[in-house]
Order: sequence, then C-alpha cells, then structure tokens
Amino acid sequence: SVLEMEVEQINKGNYEHYMQKEIHEQPESLTTTMRGRLIRGGSCKAKTVLLGGLKDHLKTIRRSRRIVFVGCGTSYNAALAARPILEELSGVPVTMEIASDLVDRQGPIYREDTAVFVSQSGETADTLLAFEYALENGALCVGITNTVSSAIARHTHCGVHINAGAEIGVASTKAYTSQIVVMAMLALAIGGDAISSQARREAIIDGLFDLPNRVREVLKLDHEMKDLAKLLMAEQSLLVFGRGYNYATALEGALKVKEVALMHSEGMLAGEMKHVAYSKQQSVIQQLHARKGRLIVMCSKGDAASVSPGESCRVIEVPQVEDCLQPVVNIVPLQLLAYHLTVLKGYNVDQPRNLAKSVTTQ
Ligand code: AGP
Repeated sequence: SVLEMEVEQINKGNYEHYMQKEIHEQPESLTTTMRGRLIRGGSCKAKTVLLGGLKDHLKTIRRSRRIVFVGCGTSYNAALAARPILEELSGVPVTMEIASDLVDRQGPIYREDTAVFVSQSGETADTLLAFEYALENGALCVGITNTVSSAIARHTHCGVHINAGAEIGVASTKAYTSQIVVMAMLALAIGGDAISSQARREAIIDGLFDLPNRVREVLKLDHEMKDLAKLLMAEQSLLVFGRGYNYATALEGALKVKEVALMHSEGMLAGEMKHVAYSKQQSVIQQLHARKGRLIVMCSKGDAASVSPGESCRVIEVPQVEDCLQPVVNIVPLQLLAYHLTVLKGYNVDQPRNLAKSVTTQ
C-alpha cells in the first residue's frame, strides 16, 4: 500500500536501500554494540571488558576443553574472523562448525565443551538444531544474537546480545561487523587479566574505542568502490583472497557478491593458492600478476608501494587498526562493492532473488 511504502521510505532515511543504510550506519552500530561494555578508567583503573550476560559463566568457559563456534553464512564467517584472537587470549583450542554440517555428522560434542552459537536472527533452523544437539550432549551453550526475543537468545545457558539494531537487508552487513566486535570482547573477557597479555589486551581495547572512526574513514571509499563496480560489472567471476585475520574477509566478501550481485565469486585462503605455504600474501600477488590476473589489492595505508606489482593493478587502501580488528575495517569496501554491483546490474539489493533473510525451515 501507499502507507507501507511511505513507512519504508521513512525507515530508510536518506538512503535508497536498507543494505546501503546498514553499511553506512556501521560507525553507529559498532558504538551501540560496545556501549557500557568497554571500560577505560583513569590512570589507576585498568582497561577491561564487562559482558553482563557471561560473567557467571566465565570460569566454566576458561576451564572448558575447547570452544566450538557454530553458525551459518555470515555468522559463521564472523566467528572465523574472531577465532585467532580467541585462541590467542583464551589459550583454549577453538574449532569451527557450520551448523548443518555438525548435525549431519553428529560430530563429537562433549560436556567439557563450550559451544558458541552465532546468529543474527537467532532463529536459523540449522543453528537451532545444532544448538539442541549440543545441549543434549551436555555442552555449555552460549548465544550471540542480534534479536533479544529469539529462540537462541532465550534458550542458551548464557550469551551476549549483538545490539547492532534491526537489520532489514537480506545481506548481513552491520550485524557481521558487530558480531566480530562481540567476539573480540568475548576473547578479552575469557582471557581475564593475565599480566603477560596485558599490553596486548589494552591495545585491543584502545583499538575497539577507535574502530567507529576508522570505519567512518573507510566508508569514504564509497565512490571508489562504485567506480570499481562499473569496471567489474561485466566480469564472469570475482576471486577474493585473504589469509590470517582476513581469511574470513575473503569468504564474507565473496558471499556478499554472490548473494546480492548474483555473480560468481569465491573466497580463498591465499596460503592455499599453490598448496604450499607462502610466507606472505605478496608472493601470491606476484604469481597472479605474472599469470595476467586482473588484480585489485586491498592493503593498509602506506603499504601500496611494497605490495602492488605494477601499474595495471588497482589498489584500495584501508586504515590500519589493531591486527585482530582489521577484518571489521576490510569488509566494508567489499560490502560497498557488492552493493554497487547489484544496483548497477539493476537487481533487487534488499531482497535478492530466491533468498530469505533467515532460513527458518529445513
Ligand atoms: C548473510 O548475508 C546471509 N543472509 C546468510 O548467509 C546468513 O548469514 C545466514 O543464513 C545465517 O543467518 P543468521 O545469522 O540469522 O543465523
């Protein structure tokens, strides 16, 4: 109806689409996610993290034999982005499970495990099934969701709300970056106050405080990403490479392009390019260049000269942040690229063909 259309326009504010609005409001959604949870007191007060929903369970989590992340799609990718920092600060082995695959395999889950369920909607059928399975097997179940009243938020033993605000666009954007921030805070909370990692923890907390500004900065690439989208529009396929903290960025960037721009895209672990471990992303870049791949290099400001193999290569420079937070910044240009590719192709960006916001049936 006309009324519905008007309400929708009000909800979108000055933006044409929800996805566009949600990409651009990430400095604010990240701020809301961190509000009241990060404490940076005066000189005598330590910098710490307070996650109210977890405080009674932190001891159990620290003592668990492993932490298992479970999710689907973008939520799985967010957990993958946070995995290295969780391993580093907690000292507990961290494994990853795609919810449907865990259920298909009836994979081993034990009483000594902490299973963390990551879901924007908190209602994804596969994630719920995996949760019920882990519960039956006696694991401590932690929920990380963006929907307070959702099944996962209500039924897990404890958890953290993402607090990114309602996400309407089918492609998850602001929930992804907020999920990574929640899991970085989770890593800090589980890590506790060991002296050996104090400097690292403080650097991450400072990095988190600074993150909304860095995301504001990277959003200025909007025009550049639109130009790039024009260049790539007629291409058959987009390969996205990343490693370390940005392996998840490669998977998530490719997922965005597939989902909304309906273009073939694949995220790849750069270290797997030739099934040998390259010491640096740089050698993969050189090899792809030598084989006449059309290259786009995304790197930290100031690194362009050392990583770019030549004039023909397009360079996107992003602000550098604390290493484990880099995926929050690096995904933004790829979200913008997916958005612009879709709009240029004339496809529906908020409700892509054959996709639902959350898959609540099996
Ligand atoms: C993300 O853009 C997709 N809509 C999809 O991969 C999604 O992340 C997945 O279905 C999981 O949804 P959830 O986070 O609501 O559980």
